Amino acid sequence: MTEQGNERRTGTGSGREGDGAAPRVRLRDRDAELRSVEAAVDRLCREFAAGGTEIGGLLAFSGRPGIGKTSLLHEVRRIAKLREGATVLFARGGERQFKEPYHVLRQLLQPVLSDLRPDEFRQVMGTWEEVVGPAMGLKQPKAGARRLDPQGVRDGLDYVLTQLAPRRAPMVMIVDDLHWADAESLSWLAKFAVRSGELPVLLVFAFREDENDWPAETQDFRRDVVGLKGRKHELNRLNLSSVTDMIRAELGDKAEDAFCYEFWNVVNGNPFEVVALLDQVRDQELEPVEENSRQLRELAVDATGMTLKSWLDRLGASTLRFAWACAMLGTDIRVDLATRISTQSTEGARDSIKQLRKQRVLTQAPNGNLEFVHPLIASSIYNTMPDATRLGMHGIAAVEIENAGLGLLAASRHLVETHSGEGDDRIVKKLRRAAVEHQLIGAPEAAQRCLHRALNEPPADEIKAEVLYELGCSALLTDPVATVNQLKLALHPDEVPLRPELRVDATFRLSEVLAHSGELREAALVCQDEAEKTDDPARRQRLQAASFMWHAFRKSEEDGPGRSARLGEMCRGLTGREAADRAVLAMRAWDLTLRGRSSAEALALADEVLDGGRLPKGLGWTDTTWGFELPSMLGLTYIYNDRVAQAERLAADAIIQFEVAGWSGAHRGFAYFLMGLARFRRGLLAEAEDFLRRAYRISERIGQKLPLAWDAVGVLVDTLIARGRVDEAWELANDFGFHPPYHATAMVLPDAASLYGKLLIAKNRHAGAAAALTEAGAQLEVRGWRNTVWAPWAGHLAIAIASDEPERARDYAQKAVHDARAFGTASAIGTALRLQAQVEDGQQAVELLEQAVMHLGQSPAGYEHAVALVDLGAALRRVGRLEDAQEYLYQGIELAQHCSAEGLVDQARRELANYGLRPNRLGLRDFRDTLDALSGPELEVARRAVQGLPPQRIAEELGLNIGLVNRRLAAVYRKAGSGPDGLASALGLPPQQREATRPDAEE
Ligand SMILES: Nc1ncnc2c1ncn2[C@@H]1O[C@H](COP(=O)(O)OP(=O)(O)O)[C@@H](O)[C@H]1O
Ligand SMILES: [Mg+2]
Repeated sequence: MTEQGNERRTGTGSGREGDGAAPRVRLRDRDAELRSVEAAVDRLCREFAAGGTEIGGLLAFSGRPGIGKTSLLHEVRRIAKLREGATVLFARGGERQFKEPYHVLRQLLQPVLSDLRPDEFRQVMGTWEEVVGPAMGLKQPKAGARRLDPQGVRDGLDYVLTQLAPRRAPMVMIVDDLHWADAESLSWLAKFAVRSGELPVLLVFAFREDENDWPAETQDFRRDVVGLKGRKHELNRLNLSSVTDMIRAELGDKAEDAFCYEFWNVVNGNPFEVVALLDQVRDQELEPVEENSRQLRELAVDATGMTLKSWLDRLGASTLRFAWACAMLGTDIRVDLATRISTQSTEGARDSIKQLRKQRVLTQAPNGNLEFVHPLIASSIYNTMPDATRLGMHGIAAVEIENAGLGLLAASRHLVETHSGEGDDRIVKKLRRAAVEHQLIGAPEAAQRCLHRALNEPPADEIKAEVLYELGCSALLTDPVATVNQLKLALHPDEVPLRPELRVDATFRLSEVLAHSGELREAALVCQDEAEKTDDPARRQRLQAASFMWHAFRKSEEDGPGRSARLGEMCRGLTGREAADRAVLAMRAWDLTLRGRSSAEALALADEVLDGGRLPKGLGWTDTTWGFELPSMLGLTYIYNDRVAQAERLAADAIIQFEVAGWSGAHRGFAYFLMGLARFRRGLLAEAEDFLRRAYRISERIGQKLPLAWDAVGVLVDTLIARGRVDEAWELANDFGFHPPYHATAMVLPDAASLYGKLLIAKNRHAGAAAALTEAGAQLEVRGWRNTVWAPWAGHLAIAIASDEPERARDYAQKAVHDARAFGTASAIGTALRLQAQVEDGQQAVELLEQAVMHLGQSPAGYEHAVALVDLGAALRRVGRLEDAQEYLYQGIELAQHCSAEGLVDQARRELANYGLRPNRLGLRDFRDTLDALSGPELEVARRAVQGLPPQRIAEELGLNIGLVNRRLAAVYRKAGSGPDGLASALGLPPQQREATRPDAEE
């Protein structure tokens, strides 16, 4: 489908064609506003020409109906279009169209997006094509797609605009009648307006400020829009002299002052009313003299005051019916549609149009489509429709729009307005299909309107529960409370039961939403209950597995070891390797990990879940059968079993897939968290911090203090401590409220109490830490969870009580080492040993740390390794082995730098400096070290550079482009600490040995 085609199909023209339709009016009393427009456009273009990028802004005009907003925006468009190179986009809200998702944004963006060259289009869309494309009506949703998250669409639009604006700058985006913009467009526009300053975009809005003019659905956005910062103008009524001028321009100079004065009073300076009253005066041939001024008030047509009778008198029945059809369609009205909806003949319609134009109700745009002269007239006509007529005509409109091939999306706005109570199966079917289509473009609210209407129809008893189920699912990504209620209704015993497969699905969905809002116990019980009622073994297994899963994510449970044993049994009983079987294996792998039993066993199970290192069919990140918890558990399992790279691959897939699916809420947030946690475990602290902050931001956007926020904040606190920013960590924890009793129901990843204890130790609050960690330990032991990496309470408790109770401290430290060995990963053992060393002295500490370094050196836990190196250096210094101490401290510093662990670097430097050692290596690096630091490709160019080859020759010889060669050379010079001249000696390579050393004859 072509974009332009779609535009016409949905009857939402860009308004560009309509441009020429409006005759230019001389604007009176708008000098300040017009100066403001000129200045803003001027500034935008000037600063853009001077190379500026963050030069946008907002210009807003508000005022009563008829005060002249639209006329002013016409001027804005004209002024902006005179600028060379400027892109001017225009859209407007429509009173009848505010329930059409993306109605405004499609008008605004379709023309410019569909004008892009294919390569530009791809760049502008980035990974968001499958999200923004369908929402903007630029392409069909991908086959197999289920639903788009509206937040994803907004994120995608942010990306697209950030890409588009510089390519089409300077850009002026104009939106008229913003108060009638659809909620989907408004929610994005209101946010975008806040950051328009960061782009070369001038936004120009016009709207009515009065809350009565805003639909109930978008009242919240009204507050946002009214509160926006920018240049704002409230348009004032016209002055007496301006109105007098207008009257005399129309009626001649004979118009008397007293008449003009009364005229001005009657219309209250409102230009729309001036024009309308002048029409009346002319039609009635009223002499503009003082005696006649009393008649003005009667003549004044208050368009909103027109009744059915007055319109009938003025237009006659059949013309009025045509006008009604037009009012139903709103703006950019197609004549053929209006004709059919009004059930008139072509000739009849032609007469009606003629009459309506003569009566200054409608105008016709150059493209043939009709427009109301003013929205006030459209509203007035629509509102005079008798109820029955209105409902009936919406029904006809829905049919005609579909017949015209404009699709269900366009028809559904009318469908939801039709008569209900007839129990028409076809209508129910259509509404359900329309709901699906709305989900596919990221408009769940519109989908819900369709489904609510379907329920009112009502549907046949056999499918009522199904419609309720669909209603519940439609709010899955946006409104957890509504979802829970509707799914509960769908499962309610009073309803004719759902088909069994849907019943299982509805139960699972319900449990999922409950779980995401922290109601894990209820989630588990819902699945458990339903499992008991389910005969089909596969379905029962799914529900049982789900209930295990939710129990496992609970903060505490009644019978942890029992559940674990049952899970083990279930696992052993599996015969196949279907998705459902693999799901159980994944759960078991995570359970074993938490219990700290055998890492090898957990990994073996996890590897069985994967299919060639990738998630198997049916268990993908966006698969809805199992939800994203399952792959998440797998990712966590890999993270805690030292296979961080595998976890990162999964997390990267998750981020991309959620982006492509447009799932921007909890899903994407969790993917960032997972990546952040993996980076943290690897010791890439700066990156970890970045990912975790994103996860936290997303979580806060969805709701306050969701389990995801706890996860993100916990690891963020840990990361900040590792980076040496303890006070910042403390502040964050306090601001968030990261302290006992933690999240009321959900477990925090990693264990919240252990994290909190670590934080208290970092703040030297040992007594508090001891209490928190002791309690944590007691609970975890009961539950049988002994993973020392996930919950390192024992090792840290040892440190917290070391000075008061050295014996007990040693016991705890040993217990931690014992548990770590039982689990068996290098990082677990290494860290436990390092913590144990902290409660030992002298040679004993040295030996423990040597072992710790050995273990950690075989793990991906870079930061832990760095800490152990520095600790070992310090311990060696204490026993007087200064030379060895120095070596470990240097190594520790290097690794800590690599990890962005600034605090650890300082600590190691202090250790060196305090004991008279050099705080840094002297930099006399072995040639071998420098050569090792070069990557293979870098070495390749280095050797040629040493032989005196210029970059261009190197590029030719290696068949590379010159840019790449230069980049590699830059890396070589940096690592070697020398430019081209000294490179040979810096690398210890003999220069000019070209003939002797062919690259392929290297050692
Ligand atoms: N400043 C003005 N001077 C003269 N006529 C005006 C002025 N502003 C608007 N009009 C006329 O008033 C009528 C209504 O204006 P419009 O821009 O549609 O108002 P709004 O968009 O605020 O409802 C139009 O016929 C227009 O030509
Ligand atoms: Mg207007």
